Amino acid sequence: MARRRLVYEGKAKILYEGPEPGTYVQYFKDDATAFNAEKFDVIDGKGVLNNRISEHIMTALTGIGIPNHFIRRINMREQLIRACEIIPLEVVVRNVAAGSLSKRLGIDEGTALPRPIIEFYYKDDKLGDPMVTEEHIVAFNWAAQQDIDDIISLALRVNDFLSGLFLGVGIKLVDFKVETGRIWDGDFQRIILADEISPDSCRLWDVKTGQKLDKDVFRRDLGSLTDAYSEVARRLGILPEG
Ligand code: C5P
Repeated sequence: MARRRLVYEGKAKILYEGPEPGTYVQYFKDDATAFNAEKFDVIDGKGVLNNRISEHIMTALTGIGIPNHFIRRINMREQLIRACEIIPLEVVVRNVAAGSLSKRLGIDEGTALPRPIIEFYYKDDKLGDPMVTEEHIVAFNWAAQQDIDDIISLALRVNDFLSGLFLGVGIKLVDFKVETGRIWDGDFQRIILADEISPDSCRLWDVKTGQKLDKDVFRRDLGSLTDAYSEVARRLGILPEG
């Protein structure tokens, strides 16, 4: 069988040309990286778990009218997605202080934030994804002010929904990152969610024990990453295969 044309290879995923125009195939690798790829490992089964978990979350978001690029899962490691023009920003939403926020501002990990905080980072590996403000985003033409307003409202809707979804299975959504892209209906532009939503891109803590069920297990050498991700999948009602 002819191999599909590779469009882009990232740290955890590969994009191939899709079967129809306007589609891509998103392949989930087992590669795990942290600290801008200074730490690297291959973790058997991570890609399969993230493919399933991201499918589950994107499908649920579609169900409540939050537009995203997911079309359908193709197999254990691949999903068909709608092509979009990626906006070069990582959008982080935080409910509880952790990670870089705790480090930068000296706020203890686990401190509840008075309201969700949104941060933007410019997607550029060479620069280490620096944090930017709305001023930078507009000045450098990465997105218009209206786009930023749309991205913020999308991110907050995702936060509300996912916080409830995870709380229902005993997990606190501490923070997460999303990426967004543009699609065009004629002259009309819409912003949709892209990339993935998985334990690679969220901080997920067990409500009762505080146990970390996310990529911090890898970043901080806290045990088996696949055990943690499998536990998230199990609680979300996702069967081991399918
Ligand atoms: O490292 P930091 O505390 O800024 O991360 C905030 C959230 O964004 C975490 O859930 C982390 O997993 C996610 N993130 C990500 N990809 C990055 C940076 C952060 O998924 N490149």
